[in-house]
Amino acid sequence: MESTIDKTIEFVKEKLAGAEAGHDWYHIERVWKLSQEIAQHENSNKEVVELAALLHDIADPKFHNGDETIALKVSREFLEGQNVKEETIEEVLFIIKNISFKNRGEVPKDLPIELKIVQDADRLDAIGAIGVARTFNFGGFKNNLMYHPDIEPKLNMSKEEYKKSNGTTINHFYEKLLLLKDLMNTETGKGLAQERHDFMLKFLEQFYKEWNVE
Ligand code: ADP
Ligand code: NI
Repeated sequence: MESTIDKTIEFVKEKLAGAEAGHDWYHIERVWKLSQEIAQHENSNKEVVELAALLHDIADPKFHNGDETIALKVSREFLEGQNVKEETIEEVLFIIKNISFKNRGEVPKDLPIELKIVQDADRLDAIGAIGVARTFNFGGFKNNLMYHPDIEPKLNMSKEEYKKSNGTTINHFYEKLLLLKDLMNTETGKGLAQERHDFMLKFLEQFYKEWNVE
């Protein structure tokens, strides 16, 4: 018999068919695998970790007119259909609801370890070489500029500065990607983040060097 995890994989693949390459099934698969790797070092409910990793981007508000409720509705309906028990459903939905970087100011303290794990995995997939690739893919998808030489990128830009800076793809590194290393929850996550972080710094250095040909 097919397991709930197998059924979830099928469901997610189907739902994300045609998604932008940075938020497609392969993003989910990487996050799912990273989550399992991190979970090996933490005392956690593995079923909740796997289900949340698989469902965390099932209906990203970015691609659904900002609607944050669709993902929760879709996931609940699916999990109920698989006869997953209510307690597990609630834990999974809590993670889907609170995982996002942009909501980081609003999430409750004392987060469950399962959320910390999936969040670290999702953040790891946003940095390093994959992070660079996903970010440029997203920028291209939005038809954004890669870089604007008149705008000096810097860490911790305000929303206004970011807007003014035209939302270039390079700016996204300063707005988000370079901040992620210090936001890792788990020791495993921190360890894995360092190499990816250093790679992004190298990438940026080389990017500016090549841009500024004399
Ligand atoms: P979260 O769900 O944690 O808020 P997002 O889904 O917004 O994160 O971002 C996931 C990935 O999508 C980012 O790591 C990046 O690769 C890409 N992305 C999001 N916004 C932008 C942007 N403005 N420019 C370039 N890439 C972006
Ligand atoms: Ni994600």
